[in-house]
Amino acid sequence: MEVIAKIESNLPTKIKLLIESEAKDIPDFEGKAKEITTRYQNDETIIYAALGEKDDDNEITRTVVANAIRVANRLKREAVAIEIRDAKQAAVVAEAAVLGNYSYDVHKKEPASKLQTIEIIGKDIDATSVENATIIAKATLYSRDLINGNAGDIIPARLAEEAREIAKGCSDIALEILTEKEIQKKGLGLLWAVGKGSTTLPRLILMNYKGDPSSEESVAVVGKGVTFDTGGMNLKPSGSIETMRSDMGGAAATLGIMKALATLKPKINVIGVVPSACNAIGPEAYYTGDVFTSYNGTTVEVLNTDAEGRLILADAISYCKENYKPTEMIDMATLTGAVLIALGDTVAGIFSNDDTMAKELFESGENVGEPVWQLPIREEHREWLKSDIADIQNISKVKRSASSITAAAFLEHFVEDTPWTHIDIAGTSWNDREARGIFPKHASGFGVRLILDYLLNK
Ligand code: BES
Ligand code: ZN
Ligand code: ZN
Repeated sequence: MEVIAKIESNLPTKIKLLIESEAKDIPDFEGKAKEITTRYQNDETIIYAALGEKDDDNEITRTVVANAIRVANRLKREAVAIEIRDAKQAAVVAEAAVLGNYSYDVHKKEPASKLQTIEIIGKDIDATSVENATIIAKATLYSRDLINGNAGDIIPARLAEEAREIAKGCSDIALEILTEKEIQKKGLGLLWAVGKGSTTLPRLILMNYKGDPSSEESVAVVGKGVTFDTGGMNLKPSGSIETMRSDMGGAAATLGIMKALATLKPKINVIGVVPSACNAIGPEAYYTGDVFTSYNGTTVEVLNTDAEGRLILADAISYCKENYKPTEMIDMATLTGAVLIALGDTVAGIFSNDDTMAKELFESGENVGEPVWQLPIREEHREWLKSDIADIQNISKVKRSASSITAAAFLEHFVEDTPWTHIDIAGTSWNDREARGIFPKHASGFGVRLILDYLLNK
């Protein structure tokens, strides 16, 4: 699909953004925020999309634009012109239009109709900002496709292939991929433990984007890439297992971010890191109660094979720290079901050892409409991870308590003193409800726009 900024359009289907006071002449339409109506005039289809009293709320703008795009999709339009009110809305409108023009239907005999052309119509529009917003939104769609795809196709080696494709197109990205042999040889014992039970063996992917070689600063973005989470020996029951192909939402977001950076080429340094494994059940799968040695030498007692995300992230964090020395780390992971209980499916949980980072990520979340909320890690949470037979255990010894927090405390053990923020996207990465605004049903691509906003504001 293409997005073009123009001054005027002769397309017969239009989306007109308007505020309450402009809605007076439209019968049976009040212009309340997010209200949409479709009218036919001569040969034109006009989809009125209301912003409410004023036009300065990006959240409302994004929601109503994405919903209006879905109206155009239901009408099977191929092209639409969106008339905006103010040039400063252009980027947000373009982004929302691309995000709304998505549904995953590759398996259907008749895929849903989607727009091929989206025109953004108004005076003084900055074409570059529309272009950049489109790149970022398309990177989000790319993430969604990876998450929605079959677990049998989106295997660790496939994620490595995706990284290779992205790096191929950008000379500023140096790629390192550890195969199952190197993972064992280099001592990434936790990633190997989780991944060894599957016929599709684990990978560690590192994409080193150097947009500013003169700077010592670099941000590592680490994404959990469990291509299917059966739970292992602690097998997940029906009701919990069906959507577990989405357990690589963090990895997909990381790849989406790197794909956008490869095109935008900002003057920053970012290391995209994806530990990827299939947490399978079978004769080669790791056993509950066994102890494994991590890349940094910490021994871990695995008391639940379903708490596998933190294990592969721990090795990825240690390996990245040791070999790439990032000055800051962010990890994104569909890590705990409990974060869905705490914050629902609209807000991600964040945990941080750096107040400035946490604050800036909060602000980025508000900017792009991917909100986050900070939860604490305290001494007692670290205490609960002490093992009788190893240095640390992978679940809390205190049952029924704060499992999102103890998961974060586990990661913190490997991060040590690098400024770091963990984002638990188990609730936000997947939308089990109907499409709402920019978030379609199923994979949302949550994290791509959040982290890019954070990185690009540096
Ligand atoms: N992948 C799951 C977390 C998850 C749950 C993601 C629901 C998306 C939706 C993770 O590996 C997991 O199983 N976590 C366990 C941890 C527990 C064993 C301490 C959980 O949350 O139940
Ligand atoms: Zn699990
Ligand atoms: Zn998992």
